[in-house]
Amino acid sequence: MKIHYLNLEENFTNQIKRYHEQYDKLFFITQNPILNQNPIINTIIHTDHHYICSDKEQCKSLEEYEKIIKFLSSKHCNKNSVIISIGGGTVTDLCGFVSSSYMRGIAHIAVPTTLLGMVDAAIGGKTALNIGQIRNLIGSYKNPDSLIIYDQFLHTLSKKDIINGYAEILKYALIMDEKLFIEIENNIDELLSNMNLDFIQSIIKKCIKHKLHIVEQDQYDQGIRNILNFGHTVGHALESCSDFKISHGIAVFHGMRIASYLSYKKNNITMKDYNRIIKLIEKINLDKLQKMNHNKIMEFIRVDKKNINEKLNYILLKKIGSAYIEKNFDKENIKKALEIL
Ligand SMILES: NC(=O)c1ccc[n+]([C@@H]2O[C@H](COP(=O)([O-])OP(=O)(O)OC[C@H]3O[C@@H](n4cnc5c(N)ncnc54)[C@H](O)[C@@H]3O)[C@@H](O)[C@H]2O)c1
Ligand SMILES: [Zn+2]
Repeated sequence: MKIHYLNLEENFTNQIKRYHEQYDKLFFITQNPILNQNPIINTIIHTDHHYICSDKEQCKSLEEYEKIIKFLSSKHCNKNSVIISIGGGTVTDLCGFVSSSYMRGIAHIAVPTTLLGMVDAAIGGKTALNIGQIRNLIGSYKNPDSLIIYDQFLHTLSKKDIINGYAEILKYALIMDEKLFIEIENNIDELLSNMNLDFIQSIIKKCIKHKLHIVEQDQYDQGIRNILNFGHTVGHALESCSDFKISHGIAVFHGMRIASYLSYKKNNITMKDYNRIIKLIEKINLDKLQKMNHNKIMEFIRVDKKNINEKLNYILLKKIGSAYIEKNFDKENIKKALEIL
């Protein structure tokens, strides 16, 4: 997979022009909020060959999938064509799945436009659709052929979506990069108030490097890749429980609070380090979590893909900057820890 880090409009449009030479047809798939706020997209898309999918999680559905497949077929998309997904994790997850299954696989270029997409969702080749309230129940593994990180897209991102991105960034810091944790800890106010693209670009590069390092060792989630699920067991359950009203990043922040608490309770991390983590998350000033039925949260945890019979593979911290998979983790511990939410 080629990765292009671009920051000038001209470089971005030139890169797309190159694909016109490389493929017979380019199919752009994006969402309205991105298109409306980034006029550059209108300058690169071929009018006939673009598809606007429904926004947010709604697009990761079988209905949307079928509509896109029919659209591609009606426009004679073929093995020499390419899908260019321009969007956050929802668009790249959906388009990844489309590209892995349409005609048993066609080329895909991912252009993540959210911070979360740039550091996480578009990296590592996991594609997905949700079924009902169960997220990512269907999917495949297929890396995009190229990835374009064009950081100007971050300017139109809402504060909430910037925060969503910091959830995954903090995750990498906690599970594998203590220095990054300290960097965020020391600069969190600036990071949240001011879009310093050079600084953010350097963080994005570190996160992509970390994710690729893990995925290269375990593409299919058989072992080490599971540590990337830190905070996600509870996170996914909160998303499902709220019918996706709680966004992925915010849910993962809460999931990381629980996982850090359980790491502290197991005497893996000190109270001081636990408090550092909580203080940092509090600075991000998450919305107060609505009251949720803990049994319902546990019910969603029961259908989590990380379950093996009644036990769970759960990710805990060894220390700030290092994580491990606790096999046969008793879900009752999570239930008790939900009290801190
Ligand atoms: N495949 C993976 O490995 C992986 C990893 C992490 C997350 N995910 C998935 O990613 C999804 C979440 O992705 P997300 O947080 O990027 O959210 P998202 O795709 O829902 O985007 C959030 C909102 O921002 C808008 N938007 C996107 N880019 C914009 C821009 N530059 N300017 C203005 N508006 C913009 C979108 O239209 C949407 O309304 C979840 O479905 C999650 O499961 C996948
Ligand atoms: Zn995530």
